Amino acid sequence: MFADLPTPPIDKIIELMTLFAADPRGDKVDLGVGVYRNAAGQVPIMAAVKDAEHRLWQVQETKGYISFAGDAGFIDALSGLVLGEAVPADRVAGIATPGGTGGVRQILELVRHLTPRARVWVSDPSWPNHAVIIDHLGLERRAYRYLDRDAGAVDRDGMRDDLAGVAQGDVILLHGCCHNPSGADLRAEDWDWLAGLCRRTGAIPFIDMAYQGFGTGLEEDAAGTRALAVQVPEAFIAVSCSKNFGLYRERAGVALAITDTGQPRAAAQAQLIAMNRMSFSFPPDHGARLVEMILRDPVLRASWEAELTGMRQTMQRNRSALAEALRQETGSDRFGFLVGHQGMFSLCGATPEQVLRLRDAHGVYMVPDGRINVAGLTETNIPKVARALATVLG
Ligand code: LMR
Repeated sequence: MFADLPTPPIDKIIELMTLFAADPRGDKVDLGVGVYRNAAGQVPIMAAVKDAEHRLWQVQETKGYISFAGDAGFIDALSGLVLGEAVPADRVAGIATPGGTGGVRQILELVRHLTPRARVWVSDPSWPNHAVIIDHLGLERRAYRYLDRDAGAVDRDGMRDDLAGVAQGDVILLHGCCHNPSGADLRAEDWDWLAGLCRRTGAIPFIDMAYQGFGTGLEEDAAGTRALAVQVPEAFIAVSCSKNFGLYRERAGVALAITDTGQPRAAAQAQLIAMNRMSFSFPPDHGARLVEMILRDPVLRASWEAELTGMRQTMQRNRSALAEALRQETGSDRFGFLVGHQGMFSLCGATPEQVLRLRDAHGVYMVPDGRINVAGLTETNIPKVARALATVLG
C-alpha cells in the first residue's frame, strides 16, 4: 500500500527547524519558525505557566474524560479574552481544539460540511497552512490582495477590489492581529469596512487569532475582532494559546462560532461538538487547564500579563534595533517599514534565492518567502543579521 505513494510537499516553515538544528555553525541565527525566544535563544516556559502547572499537580484528582467540547470554563475564559464584553456569551458557541490550527481545521470542516460550495477568501500572502487545509478539504480557495510589497503596508484598494467579489455564504479569512507573514495589520476603518461588506453580502468573517498581546496590547490587539463581531450576525474565530501563553506543544486553542441566541447557537454548538467527535473525540486538556487557571486567578494573570508585556517590548526593541542597524549598513531607510509592523513577523523583501544565500553563506535562517521572526533577534546577532541582509539584498 505504501510503496508507490508520492511524498507530500514538505512544510517550508517546519523544515527549517530540522535544517537549523543540523547546522554546526556556532553563530547561526534562527529567524524561521514562529516561536518566541529569549535573549539566550531559548523558547521559555512562562512563569505563570510553571506556577499553574505546580498548582494543577497538587489539586488535580483525575484525568477522566471531560466532554467532546472540552472544558466549558476554558472556552468561556478564552472567548472572554478575545471578545471582552463585545458579544453576549449566549451568542457564542465554542469547542476546545488542539491549538489554533485545530480551531482553523474544525471551523473549515464545519464550513465544508454545511456549505460545501462556499469559497474561502485568503489574504495574499497568508500563513501557508491556511491554503493547505482549505485545499485538503476540497473547498474552493480565492486569494485577495493584502500587501503592498513596496510599501510594506496593507494594500487597501487591492483588498477592497478583490473582496468586492464575495458572495453570500463565502468565508473571508482574516488575521485578528500581527498578520502572518507580513506584520502589516488592518486599521479600525478596515474592520468596519469588512463588517459592512459581510452585512451587505452575507459573507461570513473567519478570524484567526494567534498572536493576541504580541502587537500593541491584549485589548488593542482584539479591537478589530470585537468591532467586527458586534456588527455581523455570524462569524467564526479560531484562537491559539501557543504563542501568547508559550504553550506550543500542549496544543491549546478554541473554535468559536458567533450566531444568534437560542436555537441557532444550540445548532452551532452541536455541529462543532460533532466535528470534535469525528476528528479525535476529546480535545487535549492540560494546556487548556493552565490557560483557564491563569486567566481566572488574579495573581497568575498579573504575572502572565507582565511577562507578555516584556515579550512584546523585546520584539518591538528588536524591530527598532534591526531597522537602525540596516540604516547604518545600507545608508538608507529602505527597511524602515520594519518598525511599523506588529507582532513577530515581517517580510524582509528577500527572494527565495536570496533566502538560500542568507542561509548558506551567512547562517541566517528564514522562511523562503523572506519572512523573518523578530523574536529570534538578539542584541548579539542583530549586527550580523543586518550585515547579511545588506550584503545579500544589495
Ligand atoms: C509559524 O507561522 O511559524 C507558526 O505558526 C508555526 C507553524 O505552525 O507554522
